[in-house]
Amino acid sequence: MASTISKPAPDRSPVTGTATQKRKRKPFLLDIYSTAVGKKYVMAITGIIGIGFVLVHMIGNLKMYLGPAEFDHYAEFLRELLVPILPRTVTLWLLRLTLIGAILLHIHAAYSLTILNRKARPVKYQSERDYVAANFASRTMRWSGIIVLLFIIWHLLDLTAGTLNGSGFVRGHAYENVVNTLDRPAVAIFYIIANIALGIHLFHGVWSLFQSMGWSNPRFNKWRREAAIGIATLIVVGNVSFPIAVLANIVKVKS
Ligand code: HEM
Repeated sequence: MASTISKPAPDRSPVTGTATQKRKRKPFLLDIYSTAVGKKYVMAITGIIGIGFVLVHMIGNLKMYLGPAEFDHYAEFLRELLVPILPRTVTLWLLRLTLIGAILLHIHAAYSLTILNRKARPVKYQSERDYVAANFASRTMRWSGIIVLLFIIWHLLDLTAGTLNGSGFVRGHAYENVVNTLDRPAVAIFYIIANIALGIHLFHGVWSLFQSMGWSNPRFNKWRREAAIGIATLIVVGNVSFPIAVLANIVKVKS
């Protein structure tokens, strides 16, 4: 009969050096951000900030239909926000910095999620249907996101800096500046295409942000779809109406 007394375990050294290395702890938020779930949260939260901005921006731009005085008054109101608690334009700059931060984080999270997904799925989806669906959604988000980003850069140079607005840009004359820019058919068409791309991005974005935030349930998936279609349609219809109204001479600079 074999003896049941076992020999003392041999003194084993670790297989690799990494086992003995202490993992360096990152600050809490960076630690969460290094995971796929953390990046998805960042995408969703920065996406919500972006949606809030485009919705309020579109509603504000509807003042264009009330004429130059109303529109310029609204542009001035944005510069005067929280005056005299804070000096003129400070609140606007804080909002601008928040928005820039949100856009940069949104792009970084999207890029690093793509890298993470590629590492996690070196083998293609086994079902052709899932592969086509996942690929279509991510490719659509990529190109629509790039068009929207290029549009924002153009738009800031056009209406905030005034460098692409043609010779007539006058600081403080927001109504005249926007009408003059949209009166150029090529620019108006670019605005229309960019806003349709924005709509596609928003539709898929709103749909996925429910998933990322953990608000997905078969019982309200129908609502989710309707919310995504509703928000995207509202913003696209409002924004596309501006270049069309200028081209159709409904909105014009009074001579
Ligand atoms: C046809 C649609 C749009 C029109 C007519 C329009 C019009 C304007 C105008 C007139 C300004 C300058 C306001 C001022 O001088 O205070 C402006 C600024 C801006 N717009 Fe738009 N916009 C449109 C769509 C968009 C979209 C889709 C985005 C983002 C995706 C966007 C992002 C911005 C940003 C970030 C600023 C700068 C805000 C600032 O400097 O305070 N716009 N827009």
